[in-house]
Amino acid sequence: MHNYIQIAIDGPGSAGKSTLAKGAAAKLAETIDCVYVDTGALYRAVGLYMTRRGIDCADAPAVEKALPDVSVTLRHGVGGQIVLLCGEDVTGLIRTPEISSAASKVSAVPAVRAFLLDTQRSIADSVSVVMDGRDIGTVILPDADVKVFLTATAEQRAKRRYKELIEKGQTVDYETVYSDLVARDRADETRAAAPLRAAEDAIPFDNSEIGIEEGIDWLIDRVKERCPEKLAALKREDA
Ligand code: DC
Repeated sequence: MHNYIQIAIDGPGSAGKSTLAKGAAAKLAETIDCVYVDTGALYRAVGLYMTRRGIDCADAPAVEKALPDVSVTLRHGVGGQIVLLCGEDVTGLIRTPEISSAASKVSAVPAVRAFLLDTQRSIADSVSVVMDGRDIGTVILPDADVKVFLTATAEQRAKRRYKELIEKGQTVDYETVYSDLVARDRADETRAAAPLRAAEDAIPFDNSEIGIEEGIDWLIDRVKERCPEKLAALKREDA
């Protein structure tokens, strides 16, 4: 039994996990201490480390050999999550198509998954979390209070990712974004180590046609339904 509230949001890339998770964490944080944890950022940071050192991210033995020199930490503040790679703030550097692909490759290496497991669990041991990823409900937090498996059509997701990248000033075309996304889905679903799949007790949620606020309210209702005692026990005095 864990003392804090654990909410696991899994699903394919660009299904809207971070928007839902971030929004729900912010709403919960009005009354309890709660943070949003983007676990993809951990894999992205490892991918960035390997890329910078010229290590082929698909070369599992080489990636594993370099791992002892890697340190990845997440900090949670008012501005959101900060990702530190060997002490350097790489939050803004890990959101490129190149690092998306590197992250997908290193995430298939079992040693990388084992390496990042404690980082993820120890956060959930110290504060209530809304954690998004691919294996949160199945591997990282198997006893999470609420598990959601979020989906949306590949077209909807590619449109979302394309818009995000354009807004960041990157030069990309929609077809490439779409095919990269489908390729990454396939890699995430078919890898041997913790493949992307819904936990048996996850609630499936199709995010294609749902508004942001509506999705967040739906999730908060599930939390109220599943853990009213914890919500009451964890309530801050000032809330
Ligand atoms: O969510 P994202 O796009 O930032 O994730 C980057 C890559 O990391 C993605 O290809 C899948 C992988 N990942 C994973 O395997 N397990 C997680 N919990 C989170 C991300």
